[in-house]
Amino acid sequence: MSTLSASLPGGTWTLGDLTVTRFGYGAMQLAGPGVMGPPADRDGALAVLREAVNLGITHIDTADAYGPHITNQLIREALHPYSDSLHIVTKVGAVRDEQGGWPPARKPEDLRRAVHHNLDNLGLETLDVVNLRLGDAQGPQPGSLAEPFETLVELQRQGLIRHLGVSNATAEQVAEARSIAPIVSVQNMYNLAHRQDDELIDELAEQGIAYVPFFPLGGFSPLQSSALTAVASRLDATPMSVALAWLLQRSPNILLIPGTSSVAHLRENVAGAGLQLSGEDLAELDRIGRSV
Ligand SMILES: NC(=O)c1ccc[n+]([C@@H]2O[C@H](COP(=O)([O-])OP(=O)(O)OC[C@H]3O[C@@H](n4cnc5c(N)ncnc54)[C@H](OP(=O)(O)O)[C@@H]3O)[C@@H](O)[C@H]2O)c1
Repeated sequence: MSTLSASLPGGTWTLGDLTVTRFGYGAMQLAGPGVMGPPADRDGALAVLREAVNLGITHIDTADAYGPHITNQLIREALHPYSDSLHIVTKVGAVRDEQGGWPPARKPEDLRRAVHHNLDNLGLETLDVVNLRLGDAQGPQPGSLAEPFETLVELQRQGLIRHLGVSNATAEQVAEARSIAPIVSVQNMYNLAHRQDDELIDELAEQGIAYVPFFPLGGFSPLQSSALTAVASRLDATPMSVALAWLLQRSPNILLIPGTSSVAHLRENVAGAGLQLSGEDLAELDRIGRSV
């Protein structure tokens, strides 16, 4: 781990045998509008990826469905050959349709194809972590994950995947996955205003499993709350910094993957996430999620 990585806010976490910085980078926003097609500013997208690594980030989150294929190809172009310390986490279980939708694709042949697309587009022989994305665009949906998860376990046995995780999952699905094979991460929607996984986060922390919130800054619509604005202005910080710092302080197993297509925003987010929130700040911020 470089000195740069050691100085990133939050320190590090271990996914199975892989050490990553708790401050990671989510690459979804690098594709074109609606996460379809190429970015308007291709050089800018490559620069963001290179800056993430220059800042010491060793965890990049992606999916071959972004673009589709485009985001992974950008990662490869910007960063391949990858340094040993860099870990790319991907997900399978959804594809793209012509309208830009995200239809589920969780049959065994879909998952095998998705794993091979990720390997080819990223230029890897083994994927470090693969999350099985469940549910749909409305969020997690109940139902057994046995068949798709067992397919990924088989691909893991074949040496194509190092570690497994689940995404957009209910607590029951997390438990079912763990009864089949070890998982290193759960990636669900969670932020200051969406606190539905509070209990799950605490349980996973006790088990040493990472919780990776997607939409940490609110995703396609930025987090907005008068309490967030009030705390941010009191601390002379941005609402984004407060939202990220709150997540890092919420639980040691939370890993950040904020997305951005801007080098300036990436630098701002890294600098801002180290903000120390007092007990008073935390109590005020805590009421945001409790009140919705
Ligand atoms: N598992 C799943 O189903 C799932 C679903 C969604 C996302 N994800 C993952 O989670 C990651 C994070 O989610 P996300 O990128 O959609 O949402 P996010 O991190 O909550 O927010 C990203 C948005 O915030 C803006 N932003 C970031 N930093 C900013 C700053 N300092 N100032 C102003 N605006 C800023 C970005 O715009 P700019 O580009 O202008 O900075 C972008 O529009 C994704 O990249 C993806 O890897 C997973």
